[in-house]
Amino acid sequence: MQEHASVDLENEPVDITRFTCQEGDGLWVGIERALDNGYGSVFTTDPAGVVTGVVRLDQLRAAVRKGAHLDVIRLGDLAVKWDAASNCETLIPIVDEKNRIIDVHIQPESKFIPVSEPDLSHREFRNLVDAYLSTWISSKGEYIRSFEQAWARRVGVAHGVATSNGTVSLQLGLAALGIGEGDEVIVPDFTFAASANSVIHVGARPVLVDVDPDTWCISIDAIARAITPRTRAIMPVHVFGRPAPMTEIAALAKAHGLLVIEDCAEAPGARYDGKPIGSFSDIACFSFYGNKIVTTGEGGICVTDSPDLAARMRILRDHGMRPERSYWHEEPGFNFRMTNLQAAIGCAQLERMDELIAMRRRVHAAYETAFADVPGIAFPGTMPARCEPVVWFSCILVPARERPALIKACREANIDLRPFFHGLSSMPAYHHFGGPCPVSSAVSASGINLPTLRKVDTRIAGIIADIFRRVLTSS
Ligand SMILES: Cc1ncc(COP(=O)(O)O)c(C=O)c1O
Repeated sequence: MQEHASVDLENEPVDITRFTCQEGDGLWVGIERALDNGYGSVFTTDPAGVVTGVVRLDQLRAAVRKGAHLDVIRLGDLAVKWDAASNCETLIPIVDEKNRIIDVHIQPESKFIPVSEPDLSHREFRNLVDAYLSTWISSKGEYIRSFEQAWARRVGVAHGVATSNGTVSLQLGLAALGIGEGDEVIVPDFTFAASANSVIHVGARPVLVDVDPDTWCISIDAIARAITPRTRAIMPVHVFGRPAPMTEIAALAKAHGLLVIEDCAEAPGARYDGKPIGSFSDIACFSFYGNKIVTTGEGGICVTDSPDLAARMRILRDHGMRPERSYWHEEPGFNFRMTNLQAAIGCAQLERMDELIAMRRRVHAAYETAFADVPGIAFPGTMPARCEPVVWFSCILVPARERPALIKACREANIDLRPFFHGLSSMPAYHHFGGPCPVSSAVSASGINLPTLRKVDTRIAGIIADIFRRVLTSS
């Protein structure tokens, strides 16, 4: 413990109720508080506020596995004594002369900082336990219906069809649109491979085109140049939360009689021309993988305004069976269903979506401030006023030749950075689907995703900026 005199002024005083429980509190109080404060541990105190120990989620998990919740268990019985000598703790209690907790010093850098982690609170936990206890753990249940309706409402469209992941959402959407053998779908070169893979998996051909240097999203001119008599659809991707020019893409598609299937995996909450992304296309698809803005662990959803497409996707999602006639298959379908357990988590995440978006924006702003005087780096340019991006991963551009050294130096400091996706056409699996894409190649070679999670504060941003400064000025 640190004494009052050594309070670290770098840290603003925090609300200590988020980090403490009474010794006499039950197991679940500790679980919920450790989830909600985002650091996975809580201090136990006696009735006078004196710190008596610390409890971590790992211990709480072990206690649950052993059935400790069957006894009347006090959190104090699980707490381990706080080790004042240890300097590798994330949370350090600051105490007064009577050992009463008055503040908490937070040093997230004491543990590995991943590039991303799911942000889970007591709300997801309660929903999940509720779904479990209902025994509706498969793909029927109230949470699925609620999640589909609430997500569609949030995007501003009529129907939502939840799936087991974002990739199969794209595959389901393409299949429902009747895209297959002999068809071409125009896809940006700069995206996660799932966008192109889904086209390949329905038997069609992805045509990879370059992206715009300002938005990093599919270029309108490149789409126009790539249209052939075989083109059936355009698949814009709102990469890293940055909205593609959907009004223009929808107009171009209409002029050429093409379908639009929007890959919104990385950008829920972003808007274009005042409308949520996902509301511009025939079918729009989202991913709820663990690193996404909203997560269900694994999961995805297709949204559409068309009742016919929604009905067709429901049938294809469920083995091609008609809902009103058991075991009657109209055509071979898939099993792409989401479970009620995933949807239970999704409902709580959706309630928290604005908070989750704001958290990522705050993290990005902390990086912008910390990196203000770091030479040789750039953040993505401000988008035109018509675009309202969200932050999925905070992104930074660095000289391509310095990128490996920057990533290595941060790894040595226990901080995980990710290089951007490779341009798809640069990889053997996709060579034959696209010509040269110079913008995609340049962005891909110089971009880094910075850790984008609740734990990143001005202190972490400052540590990463210092590492960048050191590497970039010594080269
Ligand atoms: C642009 C894009 N499309 C599709 C996917 C696929 O989603 P999932 O991982 O849920 O299959 C992802 C993310 O993983 C993605 O980033």
